[in-house]
Amino acid sequence: MRGVEAFRVQGGSPLIGEVRVRGAKNSVLKLMAVALLAEGRTTITNVPDIMDVDIMARLIERLGASVTFDRAARRLDIDVPAELEQRADYDLVRQMRASISVLGPLIARLGVADIALPGGDAIGSRGLDMHLAGLERMGAKVTSEHGYVLASAPERLKGAPIWLDFPSVGATETLHMAAVTADGTTVIDNAAREPEIVDICRMLTAMGAQIEGTGTSTLTITGVPTLTSTTHRTVPDRIVAGTWAVAAAITGGDVRIVDADPQHLDLALDKLTAAGAEVTGEPDGFRVRMTDRPTAVDIVTLPYPGFATDLQPQFIALNAVATGMAMVTENLFESRFKFVNELIRLGADVRIEGHHALVRGRERLSGAPVVATDIRAGASLVLAGLVASGETLVTDVHHIDRGYDSFIPDLQRLGADIERIPAPIDEAV
Ligand code: UD1
Repeated sequence: MRGVEAFRVQGGSPLIGEVRVRGAKNSVLKLMAVALLAEGRTTITNVPDIMDVDIMARLIERLGASVTFDRAARRLDIDVPAELEQRADYDLVRQMRASISVLGPLIARLGVADIALPGGDAIGSRGLDMHLAGLERMGAKVTSEHGYVLASAPERLKGAPIWLDFPSVGATETLHMAAVTADGTTVIDNAAREPEIVDICRMLTAMGAQIEGTGTSTLTITGVPTLTSTTHRTVPDRIVAGTWAVAAAITGGDVRIVDADPQHLDLALDKLTAAGAEVTGEPDGFRVRMTDRPTAVDIVTLPYPGFATDLQPQFIALNAVATGMAMVTENLFESRFKFVNELIRLGADVRIEGHHALVRGRERLSGAPVVATDIRAGASLVLAGLVASGETLVTDVHHIDRGYDSFIPDLQRLGADIERIPAPIDEAV
């Protein structure tokens, strides 16, 4: 249903109330791939009801698993047979880059995997070199033909020392999923340490994997012959929680964000405090209150525990209506400022110089039709629309639906004047 729906936002209402955060998209998609490592039934709870979960479900079904998604209970049951298919086709991989996370489990279980190359996307080119070089170090043979990567290791993968050039989230995940049943010990140095990676390590450990150094930049994994299926609760989505925190601050609201872990958002919440928000911890989450116009805050994105690139667009929106001027530096994805042109249509004053964005706050943005270019850019345009005068129409909202569970009903409950409508005819074609 691409491009056929839009969000109509009428700016001006502060968000007030309570919102519940579900499990992290960037964790659950990988947990679904992890399930393939063990024959039998794996149950994953706290699963967000988002489009990417449906795409991943279709992909692992095509690989041979049966998936039941109880949307009301936010629970997935995944039944994994003894035999799996080896091929992840382009039609699904191109819709969602996270499809690449089946590479590690497939090569671990089958000794062979045939995965369509995901290509670039709206936020950048996103290479796979570190995933593939790591698998080669573990003895896999990797070739690329006709748009597919073929990785094979007929002899079972061998544990090996691996140094990543950069703490890539995806490469760390592929390699530790491949290493858990390899022959011997793998040490991944300069590993990513995102809470979602810790979540995957926890699930793998519950399945019988031997992993040391969880949450650090050195993961030591000693291969075991087989893993057993388990039940696992997904870590809360820190990016969704951070989006709600910015939504509270930008609208001058007061929002309790529950079922969230503020420790995963240390830096972002510290920036919000610097912007003038009052942030308080609560037993089941945290609360963000803002009474004045925000003060502009500088941001530099870095791998965790640095400032998350997935919260950069939301903070650009906040800076766009702040007092003063801020420099936002993007170090992870080269095209992540593409959405700024849409924000400029709402009256924002942003100048891009390479990977820096200079944002001069304006007292008011003014509503206009804009296009969501990716998940977080889309969310950021909605936040800007909440404080723009008049009406903002955000189209291509399927991007937002990929990552935000109940976004519109939750916004409405908090007092936003927003609705989902069919896109205007010229947008729908
Ligand atoms: C994941 C998240 C994404 C988040 C990002 C960084 C998912 C589904 N997506 O993406 O939301 O923004 O982490 O926190 O979990 N790179 C290479 N070669 C490689 C691997 C990566 O050059 O082999 C580059 C990428 O092009 C990119 C940078 O490294 O510029 C970061 O990529 P990575 O950390 O792997 O992010 P993803 O796993 O793609």
